[in-house]
Amino acid sequence: MTENLMSLQSHILVEESKHQGASGDFTWIISAISLAAKSIANHVRRARLEGVLGDAGASNVQGEKQQTLDVLSNEILMRCLGTRASIAVLATEESEHPSILRRGVDGGKYCVLFDPLDGSSNLDTGVGVGTIFSILRNIPTEKDGERTVCQAGREQVAAGYVLYGSSTIFVLTTGNGVDLFELDPYIGSFLLVKKGVRIPELGKTYSINEAYSAQFSQGYRDYLSWAHENGYSSRYIGSMVADIHRTLLTGGVFLYPPTTKNPEGKLRYLYEASPMAFLMEQAGGLAYSGSTPTLDIQPQRLHQRVPVLLGSKHEVERVLSFLG
Ligand code: AHG
Ligand code: MN
Ligand code: MN
Repeated sequence: MTENLMSLQSHILVEESKHQGASGDFTWIISAISLAAKSIANHVRRARLEGVLGDAGASNVQGEKQQTLDVLSNEILMRCLGTRASIAVLATEESEHPSILRRGVDGGKYCVLFDPLDGSSNLDTGVGVGTIFSILRNIPTEKDGERTVCQAGREQVAAGYVLYGSSTIFVLTTGNGVDLFELDPYIGSFLLVKKGVRIPELGKTYSINEAYSAQFSQGYRDYLSWAHENGYSSRYIGSMVADIHRTLLTGGVFLYPPTTKNPEGKLRYLYEASPMAFLMEQAGGLAYSGSTPTLDIQPQRLHQRVPVLLGSKHEVERVLSFLG
């Protein structure tokens, strides 16, 4: 039970007031994401009743089948964020190019990047799905949208995800630890339920699509054999947000290594790997792409993919020791 009721909105206002000269712009952005999340949660919950399950008959720029709810969630986020005066650029998994909303001279201070619905191929079976977002500073001198958003993860101002699971959970970092909010559907507000979430340093669970192991490099295969011999458990939902949320709360590692099919890995840097890496580090965990900390990677393309290894500090270090 929450002792002092604190909504996401008030929490951000309190945090922002600690920064001298803060304009409140950032609060507006989080409030737009929170509004979008409530609307998406509502559609996800009622998907079968509304008849919005199934694929939309189109593919996104990455050749992946778009579900009706991918398209709908994307539209909701674009509509909620598009009206916020401080946003310069929006970029999404579902569009090839970023949308430039306003230039720096017109007040565009931030860029918001998102995966509107992660794990959407699981929707038809009622499995948890999510939204992932990353907030960057605009570069007023840069005219090209893609170059503006191609920033290393360390540059993020904030990042988070929303999990549409058995409850709707909003997890956020603004670089000052990780806070967890839960949607109270009766009052329509995200309420703070845990401040300063820390990932356990150890956890005997690995989360990976092990069916691809023949396609992994030897180091990953050796790690998996070691885990088999050392009493580890396997958990893989196939929705990154759900798998990472479990890893954050109970410890362990989440991996999406390079495969023969996806030699760079499958997950996208700017709106999947990088925001999750920021959350993990802020919660006391680690996040690597190969031997490089994910947050140190300088992306070159909006939809660039990277390998993902993140989770409990000692468990990530153990995997790294096998990768050589
Ligand atoms: P998205 O639904 O946004 O395209 O992302 C799907 C991702 C991610 O959620 C998950 O971790 C991964 O795909 C699962 O991939 P495999 O089916 O190859 O394991
Ligand atoms: Mn995704
Ligand atoms: Mn997606």
